[in-house]
Amino acid sequence: MPNIAVVGAQWGDEAKGKVVDFLACEADVVVRYNGGNNAGHTVVLGSETFKFHLVPCGILNAKVLSVIADGVVVDPEVLVTEMDGLTRRGISIEKLRVSTNAHVIMPYHRLLDRLEEEGKGRKAIGTTIRGIGPVYADKAARIGIRIAELVDPARFRGRLAENLKLKNLLLEKVYGAEPFSEEAIYQEYSAYAERIRPYVTNTSYVVNWAAAEGQTLLFEGAQGTLLDIDHGTYPYVTSSHSVAGGACLGTGIGPRAIDRVIGVGKAYTTRVGAGVFPTELLDDVGDYIRERGKEYGTTTGRARRCGWLDTVALRFSVMVNGLTGLSMTLLDVLTGLEKLKVCKAYKCDGSETSQLPGDWETVQECVPIYNELPGWSEDISGITRFDDLPANARAYVKHVEELVGVPIEIISVGPERGQTIVR
Ligand code: IMP
Repeated sequence: MPNIAVVGAQWGDEAKGKVVDFLACEADVVVRYNGGNNAGHTVVLGSETFKFHLVPCGILNAKVLSVIADGVVVDPEVLVTEMDGLTRRGISIEKLRVSTNAHVIMPYHRLLDRLEEEGKGRKAIGTTIRGIGPVYADKAARIGIRIAELVDPARFRGRLAENLKLKNLLLEKVYGAEPFSEEAIYQEYSAYAERIRPYVTNTSYVVNWAAAEGQTLLFEGAQGTLLDIDHGTYPYVTSSHSVAGGACLGTGIGPRAIDRVIGVGKAYTTRVGAGVFPTELLDDVGDYIRERGKEYGTTTGRARRCGWLDTVALRFSVMVNGLTGLSMTLLDVLTGLEKLKVCKAYKCDGSETSQLPGDWETVQECVPIYNELPGWSEDISGITRFDDLPANARAYVKHVEELVGVPIEIISVGPERGQTIVR
């Protein structure tokens, strides 16, 4: 198998976990390269459901090396909880590796995330309140605490004291909040450090050596293209690089190491949090999709906004990720809808465009232009061959393929590993 990067092609929650788990069967190394526990991946294996926020879902495969790379931000409490949960269920974590360079989410990051959101009022981003924005802000400001420091008690104490001096001032003077106790954080985080230390290493070498040996690498992107800090619907984005290029930045591997880029997109569109969403459905069809698709967040439990598939957004995703193929998930959710719509272009300022008219903010003023297709009523959740899908389902997939210009290589018709059509 070639080295593959799997990225979310929409606003996250595209069921990447299932696709990564499916592809991980053939991989030697699975690498998580961006974001933190704002992500949530669900993998269903037989009667067991696994939910991951940090650990790459490759961990379910005993032979796979699972790497939390440099670009990830780690809440150590969450990492330790996931490690314990896996061990309790008999899953070995021996092949977990955590980068020395990954940044650590501190209690003040989580609190500041909430206070900043509250301060924005109606302009709130709708973050997951996991401290993601504040930890990446500290990283860019070159004051963040990295895993290498967390696991070195003397360095950690010093870095914590430096940071708390500033953060407590900010919390008290600007937000009128209670300051944090250095000793309490030190004690709590030292206990996490003990647990994480055996898995900590310079993961750039681990990944590059594996590549040099001809091992198969799978890069697992979190969130989605339209939540990327540079290419997404700014400012309603996350704070990391969720596009395929993020796999290089967040891992320390050159772009030539990635042979294929698979974008994962739902057969429709969803988004959580605020921000532009041209094809959003605020009617019964939106509710139907939400209920059938169980469109409630893995991380926060929030109801997701639902809408028709937007191929203007998908084409943008194909372009900025250099997608070689798409994986269409949750096609079964559309079963039972008499008519399906696919957004092919936007009408902006009186003229039609199949591309983004400017930045995403200007899309707010645009109206989607749809093609309408007939739906299907047959249960497709047990189908494993493309040719066995109802004619209208096949036509839907082919229509999307024509509009986005890359092959739809994998189709998912249910949460289980087996409910997958490979074309
Ligand atoms: P943050 O990443 O918690 O700062 O949140 C920023 C924006 O990204 C919010 O709109 C979140 O709802 C969204 N977001 C973050 N992580 C995910 C994810 O894994 N799936 C979907 N949306 C996400």
